[in-house]
Amino acid sequence: MVRADGRPVVVHAESFAASIHGSLGCIDCHVDLARVADFPHPERLAPVTCATCHDEPAAGLGRSAHGPTGGAGGPLQCASCHGPPHQIAPSSAFESPTSKLQVARTCGQCHGGVVAAGGRPGPAVAGLFADSIHAIALTRTTVAPTCTDCHRSHDILRKTDPASPAHARNIPATCGTCHADQRRLYGGSVHAAALGAGHPLAPQCVSCHTAHRMAPTAGSQWQLAAVEQCGTCHREALATYRDSFHGQVTALGFTPVAKCVDCHASHEIFPVADARSTVAPANRLATCQTCHPSATQNFLAFQPHANKNDRERLPALYYAARFMNTLLAGVFAFFGAHTLLWFVRERAESTGEGDPRG
Ligand code: HEC
Ligand code: HEC
Ligand code: HEC
Ligand code: HEC
Ligand code: HEC
Ligand code: HEC
Ligand code: HEC
Ligand code: HEC
Ligand code: HEC
Ligand code: HEC
Repeated sequence: MVRADGRPVVVHAESFAASIHGSLGCIDCHVDLARVADFPHPERLAPVTCATCHDEPAAGLGRSAHGPTGGAGGPLQCASCHGPPHQIAPSSAFESPTSKLQVARTCGQCHGGVVAAGGRPGPAVAGLFADSIHAIALTRTTVAPTCTDCHRSHDILRKTDPASPAHARNIPATCGTCHADQRRLYGGSVHAAALGAGHPLAPQCVSCHTAHRMAPTAGSQWQLAAVEQCGTCHREALATYRDSFHGQVTALGFTPVAKCVDCHASHEIFPVADARSTVAPANRLATCQTCHPSATQNFLAFQPHANKNDRERLPALYYAARFMNTLLAGVFAFFGAHTLLWFVRERAESTGEGDPRG
């Protein structure tokens, strides 16, 4: 039985007994009843404070993005995630809304659609997550992450809060709890150094992999998109790469040709002047040889980022490109004029077709 405003009057003995609190007495929670001398007790009971027994979760929730000062939809209640108060199950039980396999759906009640609780628009995070390799892996192994592995359960903070595991600077450590190798390789890179130095454009894991729609990296579609991704920050390198043989061929969707990470590595990226770089002068030939096994020192004359507009560094290429452009323009001008004259002549002849003299 439920009152008009939704508050329960009837407590189902069996489901209460089966809940995690089944061994408690009613008055352990409804403490004001312990002070009632006579029954029936007053109709309104004092609200139950879960914090009396669970101070840590309550304190965490209080300072979180879901707490009194956080959420636009008002503070969350314990029941928002744990369900009806007389039926709370331990998180280890599969059917609990806070179990590892259910939690994405529980959070998704508010973070699933385009509108977050409180009517404010929010990203459809749970939908993105559902498509990810992480969500797929979760059906096989509980080693895969769900929302709470990256955001915690009670003290969930905004990504702009420096103490949040989802804050840019903490993301490598958050992902690194499972992807230790990538964290280590990335940790020594020029990108990690830039992140540490507070560079506003420094990439960390989710700059390249997204936060929620994590995709397998072996697919050609993802690998081609990764080239564009590097190019969002390295515009010139992308443009000169596009002009190169490798770039022209990948633009056609052919992935076995060298992409950025085939020459520079994906996580352990260093400046060219750094001896650890895969394209440092001493390592460059070996890098090319992974795909061009018979390449010799001469092969390195090929410039992966040849900038045909750079007269200082590459005069031969500069003049060759100018020559080619002039030649091309000349050829087009010649054939353009030729075609035009031809057209005029065709027209003159065809209008003369009805001519009895023709
Ligand atoms: C784990 C703590 C807990 C235990 C144990 C518990 N309750 Fe509750 N009960 C709550 C909470 C939380 C509410 C929701 C209203 C609130 O927040 O005070 C509630 C609401 C109720 C209400 C509706 C009260 C109102 O004003 O809306 C009744 C009736 C009730 N409980 C009866 C019982 C009975 C009977 C038992 C013992 C079989 C029991 N409860 C055991 C936590 C508990
Ligand atoms: C945003 C969703 C959410 C809210 C709100 C929430 N919890 Fe939880 N809670 C979880 C999840 C998920 C777990 C299981 C994962 C874990 O153990 O961290 C959990 C676990 C727990 C646990 C068992 C593990 C532990 O930390 O001791 C307790 C006790 C608990 N919650 C109490 C509460 C109380 C009390 C409130 C209200 C003050 C509350 N929770 C509010 C999501 C939530
Ligand atoms: C009178 C003390 C008391 C109050 C009040 C109380 N609980 Fe509990 N709670 C317990 C005890 C005892 C356990 C069982 C711990 C165990 O078995 O390990 C428990 C277990 C839990 C668990 C499961 C922890 C796990 O291992 O996954 C959750 C979730 C939980 N309580 C949430 C709540 C919520 C939400 C409220 C408020 C509606 C509440 N509790 C109020 C004493 C209390
Ligand atoms: C693998 C780790 C990971 C998992 C799993 C994860 N998140 Fe996130 N989440 C992040 C990171 C990192 C950010 C910060 C993204 C950024 O900086 O753009 C974030 C951002 C957010 C934001 C802020 C909005 C936004 O996009 O900027 C919300 C809300 C959110 N996550 C909710 C969830 C929910 C709900 C789930 C489960 C359905 C979830 N997250 C699963 C890592 C994760
Ligand atoms: C009852 C609705 C509701 C539920 C359930 C809920 N949230 Fe939220 N969440 C909100 C609201 C409202 C905000 C604050 C939005 C705002 O003000 O921008 C928020 C904020 C957040 C943020 C901070 C986003 C940022 O700006 O960086 C994260 C992360 C987040 N929630 C994750 C979770 C996770 C993980 C769960 C499940 C364990 C969860 N939420 C469950 C409503 C909910
Ligand atoms: C709780 C452990 C855990 C956490 C935390 C975690 N992951 Fe994963 N991740 C996995 C598992 C498990 C897989 C699936 C591996 C498989 O199916 O082969 C995976 C797969 C991936 C893949 C696809 C790998 C491939 O084979 O192409 C990427 C990329 C990835 N995670 C990135 C991240 C990033 C970025 C973060 C942090 C925002 C993160 N992960 C956090 C466990 C985790
Ligand atoms: C600058 C972009 C970039 C950053 C930053 C980045 N990754 Fe990657 N990641 C890639 C690319 C590209 C691949 C594909 C590698 C390949 O095909 O050789 C990849 C592959 C992966 C894989 C699949 C296994 C593997 O190593 O090939 C995982 C897991 C992964 N990254 C996790 C992470 C984690 C965790 C972080 C943060 C510590 C991170 N990545 C940072 C671009 C990046
Ligand atoms: C979100 C922006 C961003 C993305 C995406 C990004 N980078 Fe970077 N990259 C940087 C920043 C910032 C630096 C450090 C520049 C500095 O310190 O002057 C850097 C440095 C480098 C360097 C060393 C160049 C130098 O001048 O020191 C190389 C090589 C490099 N990145 C390659 C890549 C590759 C390959 C990818 C894609 C897998 C990539 N980057 C993705 C921002 C980005
Ligand atoms: C075929 C191998 C190869 C490919 C593919 C490649 N690069 Fe390079 N990259 C090099 C070499 C060799 C150098 C150093 C010589 C030079 O500057 O021309 C370099 C230089 C750079 C530099 C300047 C580093 C510095 O320290 O000055 C950046 C940034 C860069 N590449 C980013 C990229 C990006 C982004 C892509 C993909 C769009 C890419 N590279 C594709 C081999 C490659
Ligand atoms: C990921 C593999 C891969 C890497 C690494 C790679 N290439 Fe290539 N490259 C190819 C493929 C595939 C082709 C097109 C097929 C062919 O002609 O062999 C190609 C074509 C070329 C061509 C034009 C065709 C030819 O054989 O003359 C040149 C020049 C070239 N690469 C130079 C380089 C140089 C220099 C490096 C190192 C800085 C390099 N490549 C690294 C895969 C790669």
